[in-house]
Amino acid sequence: MTVLVLNGPNLGRLGVREPAVYGTATYADLVARCEQVAGEVGVDVDVRQTDSEAEMIGWLHEAADAGSPVVLNAGAWTHTSIAVRDAATQLAAPLVEVHLSNVHARESFRHRSYLSDIAAAVVVGMGIEGYAAAVRFVAQPL
Ligand code: DQA
Repeated sequence: MTVLVLNGPNLGRLGVREPAVYGTATYADLVARCEQVAGEVGVDVDVRQTDSEAEMIGWLHEAADAGSPVVLNAGAWTHTSIAVRDAATQLAAPLVEVHLSNVHARESFRHRSYLSDIAAAVVVGMGIEGYAAAVRFVAQPL
C-alpha cells in the first residue's frame, strides 16, 4: 500500500514560514518523519507539495484511481476550495486532514473546513507529529 501525503500552498516553506505558528521543522524534516513512520508500519509513502491547485486536484484523481489513502494538508485551500473537496470526495480509501497549527485557535476564517466532514480523521495542532499519527492511522485503522 502506498500512502499519498499531499501538501498544498506555502507548505514547502516550512521552517522559514512563520516559525512561531508552524514551528522550525522544515519541509525536508516533514518528509523524513513520514518516511520513518511508514517504514515502522510497513507501508510506502509518497510525500508531495504543490502551490498549484490544478496539480493538487490531479494528484487526488490519481489517488482515487489507485485506491490509495491520502493524508492531506490542503493549507489555505482547506478553507476556500470546493474543487479540492470535490476531488477528495472521489477517494475510495480513507482521507485524513492534517494541519500543523491548531486552526481552531486562530482566525475565524480558518475554522471552516471544506474537508473535515468527508475525512475519516482530522489532526490539528501537533506539528509534523500530526503527519506521523495520520500515516500510522491509515496504515493501521482503528
Ligand atoms: C495550515 C493551516 C491553514 O489555515 C493555512 O492556510 C496553512 C497551513 C496548517 O498546517 O496549520 O497554509 O493548513
